[in-house]
Amino acid sequence: MKQKPATNDKHEIRPGQSEELLKELHILTRDGKLNQDSRRKLKQVYHLYQFIEPLLQSLQQDHDYVTLVDHGAGKSYLGFILYDLFFKAQQAHSKSHIYGIETRDELVQKSRELAQRLGFAGMSFLNLSVADSIGSAELPEQIDIVTALHACDTATDDAIQFALKKKAKFMVLVPCCQAEVAAELRKAKGEAVRNNPLSEMWRHPIHTREFGSQITNVLRCLQLEAHGYQVRVTELVGWEHSMKNELIIAEYKNLPAKRAAERLAEVLKTTGLDSMQRRFFSSAE
Ligand SMILES: C[S@@+](CC[C@H](N)C(=O)[O-])C[C@H]1O[C@@H](n2cnc3c(N)ncnc32)[C@H](O)[C@@H]1O
Repeated sequence: MKQKPATNDKHEIRPGQSEELLKELHILTRDGKLNQDSRRKLKQVYHLYQFIEPLLQSLQQDHDYVTLVDHGAGKSYLGFILYDLFFKAQQAHSKSHIYGIETRDELVQKSRELAQRLGFAGMSFLNLSVADSIGSAELPEQIDIVTALHACDTATDDAIQFALKKKAKFMVLVPCCQAEVAAELRKAKGEAVRNNPLSEMWRHPIHTREFGSQITNVLRCLQLEAHGYQVRVTELVGWEHSMKNELIIAEYKNLPAKRAAERLAEVLKTTGLDSMQRRFFSSAE
């Protein structure tokens, strides 16, 4: 017989949540219990979900089905949780779908098997790079919401290009380390140090790396604003996989974009990053 979670865990497991999934994600132990570690993990999952659920609800008010693409899906932790908590209940009468994009074939295969075992018919997993997924015929022309949680290096930038091309209403991004901008800062450092007092912010190697990471996210936010998105930046508290906890939530509102585009150009110029124009100005059109 299927074991129920212990009574005092009940308030932490939501009604209808799949115990089998929670076990696969090591949130519930094999005997269906929550220990201190898994309780913390569940709290983190709900913390992220609390940001995404209202976006899904608002999309649902616009049209009756929601399409979501999760880039750099890994074990598809995020996709499975979203499906279990939100999408599953709508499947009977909806074309809602979650697509996981991942380059590691073994993870794609495992996610496919798990989705099949759980009967999560509205989930697909594609063995593609984020960049290749932009032109893939396996994905719809339009996508409602794009997520990328710790997608490595420039995969977050590719996810932004994907979302722009697919005219996504929402993006939820938790960037990972990005080395490309720091490398460009390094190349132009000599001249910057001679001419720009602000270059003190990235003169020392450790600062080059940290400032490179920080300015990358600043440039991404300006890029999104320059495409008419409203951007919120906050913290994904205690997400244990990574030290990178910046959460960027963007909503397309067709806002005036000229000032953001000007600011983006100015910041690139001031930091000696003119060579990055293509990265932050292109729109994947
Ligand atoms: C740090 S893991 C994060 C996994 C998952 N999003 C999470 O937060 O648990 C990054 C994943 O992105 C995948 N990845 C890295 N670069 C990618 C790319 N360009 N296209 C698709 N997947 C990529 C890696 O194989 C890895 O599984």
